[in-house]
This record gives sequence, C-alpha cells and structure tokens, in this order.
Amino acid sequence: MIMTIQTRLKCIKIKPIILFIITLLLIRQTSMISSSHSYSLLTDPFLQFPTETSVKVAWFTEFPGDEHKIFYGQNLENTVIADTSQLTRTREDEGSKLTSKYEQTTRRNVWRHEGEVRGLKQGERINYQVVSRVKNDEIKSNIFYLTSSPQPETPLKILLTSDHQSMPMGAANLQKVKETIGKIDAIFFAGDLVNIPDRASEWFDDQRGCAFFPCLQGKGNYQLEKDGITTIYHGGELIQNAPLFPTIGNHEVMGRFTENSRLSEQFIDAIPQAVAEKNYLEKKPIINPDNNTEIKKDWIKNNSFNTDTYEEIFSFPNRSHYYAVTFGDIRLVVLQVTNIWRSPSLKDNVKGRYKESKRDLDNPEKWGYGQHIFEAIKKGSAQYQWLEEELNSEAFKQAKYKIVMFHHPVHTLGGNIVPPYTDPLQNLDYDPDGNITAIGYQYPNENDYIIRDLMPLLETAKVNLVFYGHSHLWNRFLSPNGINFLESSNVGNSYGAHLGNNKRPIPPNYSKSNYVEIGNPNGLEAIMPNLVPLTDENKNPLPYIASNDITVFSILDTEKGTISSYRFDTRQPNSKVIQFDEFAI
Ligand SMILES: [Fe+2]
Repeated sequence: MIMTIQTRLKCIKIKPIILFIITLLLIRQTSMISSSHSYSLLTDPFLQFPTETSVKVAWFTEFPGDEHKIFYGQNLENTVIADTSQLTRTREDEGSKLTSKYEQTTRRNVWRHEGEVRGLKQGERINYQVVSRVKNDEIKSNIFYLTSSPQPETPLKILLTSDHQSMPMGAANLQKVKETIGKIDAIFFAGDLVNIPDRASEWFDDQRGCAFFPCLQGKGNYQLEKDGITTIYHGGELIQNAPLFPTIGNHEVMGRFTENSRLSEQFIDAIPQAVAEKNYLEKKPIINPDNNTEIKKDWIKNNSFNTDTYEEIFSFPNRSHYYAVTFGDIRLVVLQVTNIWRSPSLKDNVKGRYKESKRDLDNPEKWGYGQHIFEAIKKGSAQYQWLEEELNSEAFKQAKYKIVMFHHPVHTLGGNIVPPYTDPLQNLDYDPDGNITAIGYQYPNENDYIIRDLMPLLETAKVNLVFYGHSHLWNRFLSPNGINFLESSNVGNSYGAHLGNNKRPIPPNYSKSNYVEIGNPNGLEAIMPNLVPLTDENKNPLPYIASNDITVFSILDTEKGTISSYRFDTRQPNSKVIQFDEFAI
C-alpha cells in the first residue's frame, strides 16, 4: 500500500520532503495497526467476594495499560474504573512449558486489574464486560454476567473441586462440569490450584493447554491421549460468571526466595518461620543494624516461605489466610490447614518427611525440618481463636448449611494423611565423637492437631460438611455426630488409594499404629457410593475413585440439600457422565 501511494505521488511530482513526511505518517499508521494485534487480555475477567450489594471483578494483562474499566448494566451503561497492580513474584524458568524457552529464572511482568461493582440487587443478573486501554487500542472481553451474593433460599449449584495443578484430566473435568450442570453459582476450591505458584505460565498460558485460568474459563486446549485416540478439551466457562472461593494448599506456598535458582527448587525449599527467625537474630547486626520492622519482616519471609503470588492473584480481605463468607443458605468457613509435602523415601540423600539428607547432616542451612506446618491450627493459635469466634457468630449459627473447607484431609484412604498432622519432632543421633550421624522426624498421632483440636470444635458447632483435597482421590465419610467429610480431588490425576496390598511407605522402625499403612488412619469407614460405585476386577464395589482415566467432580445443590458426585471415563470420550453418588448434608 505504501509503495503504491509513493508511486502515485512521484507521478504528480510532489517535492521530496513532502513525500518523506507522508511516508513516515503511513509507516506510523501501519505499525499502529500491527501493534494493535499484539495486545490481548491475559485472562478473561473473573468474580470474587460478592456481598449483598457488590462483587469484585478482576483480570490480568501483560501490559500496565492506560486505563482499565468494567462496563456493566443491561446495555453496559455503567462504568467502574479498575485499580491496577503488578504481581511482584511471577517468573518463568527452564521448567516453564512455553513456546519460547527460558534458560534461567526470569521475571515475568503481569498486571492485575480489579474493580468492585456496587449497588447491585440480590437475585439480579447483570451483564458486564471489561476493557483495557493501551496506547490507542482498546481490548475488550466478551460480555459475561455477574450477581451479588444470593439471598437465603436461593437454589444454588456449587462446584466442589481441588488439586488441578495442570494435570492431564483437568480440562476434561471442567468441560464436563459445564456440559452436565450448565450454570454454576460458585466454586469452592480446596487448594492446590497450580504446581509452582510463582511460575506465571501455570496460571495463565502453560502450553500443555490447561493452565489455571484458561481451564476455568473455557479457554484451555488440552490434548488428552487415551488408547491411541487424542481428544481436545477446553475446560469450562465458569469463573467469568460465578465467584471462586479458594484456600491455600501446599502448592500455593513458595519456599526460600532467590533471584536465580530454579523455581522448583525454591518451591520445595521452605523452612519453618521459627528457624528463619533464629537465623535472623544471628545475622541481624549485618542485615538490619537499625532494627527496621519492614526489613525484618521481609527477611524472615524471604528466608522461610511465602504465599505472595496466591495473595496477589486473589483479593483477600486484609490478605487473610482464613476467612468466612455467607453465600445464600451457606456459611463457608475457609481455613489454612496445610503442611509442606516431603518424600517418604529413606534414601541417603533425600531431604524427606522422616529424615534429613545424609550429606547435609552438618549443614543446618540445608535441612528441610520434615513436613512442617505453614499456619498453626492447634488449640490457642491465632487461627484457632479466630475459628472459635466464627463458630460462635450469628452468621454461622443461623446458616442452613455450615461448611468448612481446607486442604489437608481429615479422613481418607489416600497417602497424604500419614504422617499425622502435627509439628515434626526432630531427633538427632550422634557418634561417640559428637558428630551427627542421623536426623529423624516423628509425628505422634496423639498430637494430630486436626483430630485433637480442630475436629472437637467442628463437632460441637454441628458443621454439615468438611470439604478437603490433597490426596487426589474421591472418597467420603460420616461421623457419628453427623458431620459429612468429602475429598473430591480425583480431578486431573490420582496417586491411588491405600487398601489391600497397596501400603503407604512407612519406615521399618516406625510404629505401624502411629503411621498407618492401610485404610483411613482416623477410624471412620469410607462410605460406599450409593448409586453406581466403580468395581474392581472381581466386580466388587469400591468405596473410592482413584483413577488416572476416570475424572470426578462433585456438586452441592442447596435446593435439595445434597452433594452429588459424577464421573467421566476419558478412555471413552463419547461416553456419558455418570452420577455415582448422592448424599444429604
Ligand atoms: Fe496438596
């Protein structure tokens, strides 16, 4: 186009300087047109924390932009200007699954935009669209809908899910949720949203096709191969129109921060805050001689663990790690009950749950301190006291459905319930010369904080449902006092159930009554699904689903007061979703 115009201009013999200016203008216009194609939203908008009159809308871009707005109303006639912040910890590294490869750990710039739509009426569904302006370009999302928090007695369908972590069946799972249930009113997510929280691509654009946001927004593209047949799944358009209530799992926590080491190494390199505080005091004269409070706080965080990316992606009131909300007939209490996962292996150079690596015995800087707990829930802790207050609140007591969600299992056939949920007791062995010869960890089950401290509170408060994840399987339990327990984490993959000959790996010299190899260590029997249980090779019904071919989801229906669980066999992509269990809460 430029050449054609230039040729014409030459023909009419315009002076060279004018020709030069016109050419520059045309080149600029052309580059603006092409640059407009390089901008897009990194995610669709998603909803969070509705009140009776408002809801928050957030989305992400890879540019700061000039202005970001939410348009809402029947004809999108109202506007909210969004606040913009930059994520501070998002990075990529050689483990990132992206088209362009990263050879070293590299900062990735991501901006978050959030606005609160106010003045809503309960029960009213409002159209909305977000628009990001950058340079002279406007990038618009599609039009979705939002609502404020529903009134009591509103019939709701809520997806109970966890442990997505970009696993193979995740996209199929969420696609089947959308196809089977249709409109979802909220999502309760019991932790482990991604694998490594500071790796931006796991949230936004992992090329395997099932990053967190794309799959929960129907924009995934996962090629699932089963028996030589590949099926592409896109996930489901869910969180654009329904609020997400997450909690912190072990995969929301990053360990000690460094600029350069691999993100997978930083992820697993968490140590207890108490150890970091001790290290701080030793180094204080050098790192903080003026006793600056912020320097101290940052140093301890960077030298223990943090949930910065999780907190920056979601907008928690006061950045709290535990919270409670009323949503229709539900009072949802969300706790942080999770510890670091370490290998059960006893091999010499493994920094595991039962021992330190032999090569690091003389180097406390390299110790892992076993499966330490990130946020205390034991009696008297700040979280425990907050929970006591919450359970005594009118909002909780008046609620028709009292639901408590956290990541770590209470009752399960899965692997992660052993060792007991308590602070590791460190034991050091020495030779006659005083050298350390072994460092081991014990977890006495009489100190299991979930069973000893948390459950009596929940029993007294007559909780209807305790919902959790972490072991990547489906199973449910019922206590004598009527509390239902559900683990619905066989979403993207499974690590199996421990029944029959499939024993949990326990060190040979550890007590088998404290470290239980088979079944649910905390006593309750897994309940057989009451509609269509899966069967084993001898046609015996199974009280669980732990499969890498069959994916499972559960739906709370507040109108019926039930939780229904569904399974889909990805080996038969044209098969129907099967409802295999339903229980009342
Ligand atoms: Fe987990």
